[in-house]
Amino acid sequence: MKSADSAPVTFREFEHRAWQSVVKLYEDYFGALTAQCIEPLLDAVNVRAGDAVLDIATGPGYIAAAAARRSATVTGLDFSSAMIAEATALHPGIAFREGDAGNLAFPDASFDVAVIGFGILHFPDPDRALREAFRVLRSGGRFGLSVWTGPDKAAGFGIVMRAVEKHGSTDANLPPGPPFFRFSNVAECGNAIAAAGFSEVNIIENPQTWRFPSAAAFFDGISASTVRTAALLRAQTPQNLARIRAEVEREADRYARADGKIELPMPALVACARKS
Ligand SMILES: C[S@@+](CC[C@H](N)C(=O)[O-])C[C@H]1O[C@@H](n2cnc3c(N)ncnc32)[C@H](O)[C@@H]1O
Repeated sequence: MKSADSAPVTFREFEHRAWQSVVKLYEDYFGALTAQCIEPLLDAVNVRAGDAVLDIATGPGYIAAAAARRSATVTGLDFSSAMIAEATALHPGIAFREGDAGNLAFPDASFDVAVIGFGILHFPDPDRALREAFRVLRSGGRFGLSVWTGPDKAAGFGIVMRAVEKHGSTDANLPPGPPFFRFSNVAECGNAIAAAGFSEVNIIENPQTWRFPSAAAFFDGISASTVRTAALLRAQTPQNLARIRAEVEREADRYARADGKIELPMPALVACARKS
């Protein structure tokens, strides 16, 4: 990517800049959606009282807080200082630390459980992050992650992707990064986890619903609270963006209930594995 002075030059920098500024919007638009995956993820890795749990890419600390409610000893980690500040304000009893998923500042064998909730698609080197999670787990430790299903199932993403393909450009001139939907492929997700050293890999699909008061609110929400999708929409010409918006609202309206509220299917994959 050619960069103006202040343009991010690496994918990590691009992601980091976005996550520093999107905290409240993420909570508003994604909080109630990713919350639907917390207990399935903690169940998959069997979090119980006394476990030392590392919540990687903790964001506002939702998963960390739920693990603490199970009487686990929890550390939440995120590379965004703004997210860490918000998580600390929301959950003052939990230890949150700034740090990178690809370079965990913990000794080997520090945790019983490590989880990554909807973080892996944001990492510049997800395979390295998986190896780091493996390293900091004790023998017998459990690992879990959640990730969106592909655009064929996760309607919120599918509607926007198809509208951009139809009416705009799919090239947002972003710094090169891993494919957004790489881990949405069950086989690819399982292979990547196994390649990091884990065994007993198991992946399930968790049904989830993204709710909006209207189709217009959905477009506003996805434009404001995402990272790569928002950048893709910002990169469109005003004319194409207007066409994309109209198409997105039309398609989202197909998921309207009788009262006009929108309910979009947004299933996630929940993967778990063990360090033997
Ligand atoms: C989609 S949010 C997930 C938040 C939360 N886990 C949830 O389930 O709602 C992704 C989080 O990953 C963090 N993140 C992205 N890249 C990271 C990296 N390389 N290292 C640590 N955190 C990262 C972002 O700051 C953001 O808080």
